[in-house]
This record gives sequence, structure tokens and C-alpha cells, in this order.
Amino acid sequence: MSIQTVSVIGAGQMGNGIAHVFALSGYDVLLNDISQDALNAAVAQIDRNLERQVSRDKISAEIKAAAMSRIRTTMKLADLGQTDLVIEAATERESVKQAIFEDLVPHLRPETILTSNTSSISITRLASRTDRPEKFMGFHFMNPVPVMQLVELIRGIATDEPTYKSLLAVVESLGKTAASAEDFPAFIVNRILMPMINEAVYTLYEGVGSVDSIDKAMKLGTNHPMGPLELADFIGLDTCLAIMNVLHDGLADTKYRPCPLLTKYVEAGWLGRKTGRGFYDYRGETPVPTR
Ligand SMILES: NC(=O)c1ccc[n+]([C@@H]2O[C@H](COP(=O)([O-])OP(=O)(O)OC[C@H]3O[C@@H](n4cnc5c(N)ncnc54)[C@H](O)[C@@H]3O)[C@@H](O)[C@H]2O)c1
Repeated sequence: MSIQTVSVIGAGQMGNGIAHVFALSGYDVLLNDISQDALNAAVAQIDRNLERQVSRDKISAEIKAAAMSRIRTTMKLADLGQTDLVIEAATERESVKQAIFEDLVPHLRPETILTSNTSSISITRLASRTDRPEKFMGFHFMNPVPVMQLVELIRGIATDEPTYKSLLAVVESLGKTAASAEDFPAFIVNRILMPMINEAVYTLYEGVGSVDSIDKAMKLGTNHPMGPLELADFIGLDTCLAIMNVLHDGLADTKYRPCPLLTKYVEAGWLGRKTGRGFYDYRGETPVPTR
């Protein structure tokens, strides 16, 4: 089917990045959140990020203005009824995502494709709670969305071929590259990445290294552009913990046990960059390790 109008549910760091790339590629975007502050912050963030692209001569001021004019916001799920494609990018909690799909489905046209940007939750299970499991897929963008090339495409057990092909065409229209993953906990990227981050937190917890030495070791020793603790702060420690819990519960293997120190940071509300503090404190001029 031809996709022109896209709804993005959840206007956090992923939702604003997804809205940005779709609007820049000519799609009409409707951004939804339960918080008006989150919607305002997302639009301001998209404006800043597009402005940066203008100042680097990546896009013209006219292209930026056209992209901004394609983005609308709403707090009402009913307003998303006429869109061709829905991308759910709300908080990584299954109960939150299921409630969204349950509330949304009665408003949708039968042909609308439903997707979730979940990092780890079962696509088959999310799809089974909707009226269209054959038109439901995992659509996993990477952070920051305007910069990262990959989109993971995850078929649930019932996803049909036309839905997969439509989303593949959408990924190509964004100038990005798709990798297909089967629907098992955390798919490919986070199945591999998150245990590494969790192990970095254990390395800190057990005193093998400080925040600074762990990140320096991995950056200079393995040529990673960011250290694992810096990356965890960038992703959000609540999201990292949620993914480890999905791996632990879904694969029932103790090797996925979330590090108690990761849990402690989340309990403190130290969720990383988005709250100003995580393994680093971001409230000053430069990030300072918190351990
Ligand atoms: N952070 C990453 O690096 C990353 C990468 C890929 C995928 N993801 C996935 O993207 C999703 C969002 O992550 P994020 O990092 O943007 O989180 P975030 O905390 O920055 O944003 C989540 C947003 O969802 C909103 N929200 C919560 N409940 C809602 C509801 N019922 N309806 C509408 N909006 C609601 C919140 O108000 C918030 O603005 C998660 O599923 C996460 O696993 C995250």
C-alpha cells in the first residue's frame, strides 16, 4: 500500500527522531504523547536538529521549513485514525504499549499498518492484542534516528508479506538500510549490545574499573565510538534495565541477570542524559563520572 501519513506515538528521544526523518523524507507526521510538555520539547528538539543540518549545509532552509510544516501534534489517540502507518515509540513497558494499541485500534482504518519501535518486547504478543496481527511489525530505529543508518525489521508470527514489503520500501524511502530479525527477545542489536552494557555495569559494580577507565578501555581498546557506560546513559538506563529484564524473563538464562547497580541507578531516577544524571553527571559544563 502507499504510505503518506505517519503517526508516531511517544514524543521522547526516539519519537522526535522518527518524526524528524519521516518529515524530512516528505511524509506527513502526526506526533502523539500523553504529555503536552513532551510534545513541545519534541518539536523544539526537531527544530534544533534540523537547524544543525542547515548550518552544516546538509539541507537548505526551505527544506527545513517544509519538514517542520509537515509535523503536527496531538494528545488524542482518536486523531491518529486516518494515518497509513502507526509507529509506537512510547516507554519500554509492555503494559503501556498494550494499552496504547487497545485504545487506538477502534479508531483505525482497516488497511493501516501498526508497528512498534520496541527494543525487546515480543512483536507476536503485542500484535495478538490488536485486530490485525498480519499488519503488525517491529520497526526498530536506532538512536539518534537522523544519524543512524540501520532499521531492524521484525516480523511477528502472523505478519504477512505485503506488510513486510511496504515497510522495506518505507525504510528505503528514508535512505536507511533494513536488517531483518526473527521475533525473539531483544532481536539482534540489543541481544548482543545490552549484555555487553550490563557486563560493563558489573565491571563497575565489582570494582574492576572506574566509569572513566571502563569507557576509556572500550573506546581505545576496541575502537567503539562511545564507551559502554556513556552509551547506556545515552540510551536511557530505564530502557537498558527493561531490555535486560525481557532477555532474562524471555530466555530464562542467568547470564542475562540485570546488574543490581543498574537497578539501583534506575531506582534513584538517575536514568542517564535524559534526566541529567546516570553513570555521568551532565548538569555542569562537561560530563563528570558519578563513580
Ligand atoms: N533510547 C534508545 O536508544 C532506543 C533505541 C531504539 C528503540 N528504543 C525504544 O523506543 C521506545 C521509546 O524510547 P525513548 O528512549 O524514546 O523513551 P523516552 O523515555 O525518551 O520517551 C518515551 C515517551 O513516551 C511517552 N509515553 C508514555 N506513555 C505514553 C502513552 N500511553 N501514550 C503516548 N506516549 C506515551 C512519554 O511521555 C515519553 O515522552 C522504547 O520502546 C524503547 O525501547 C529506544
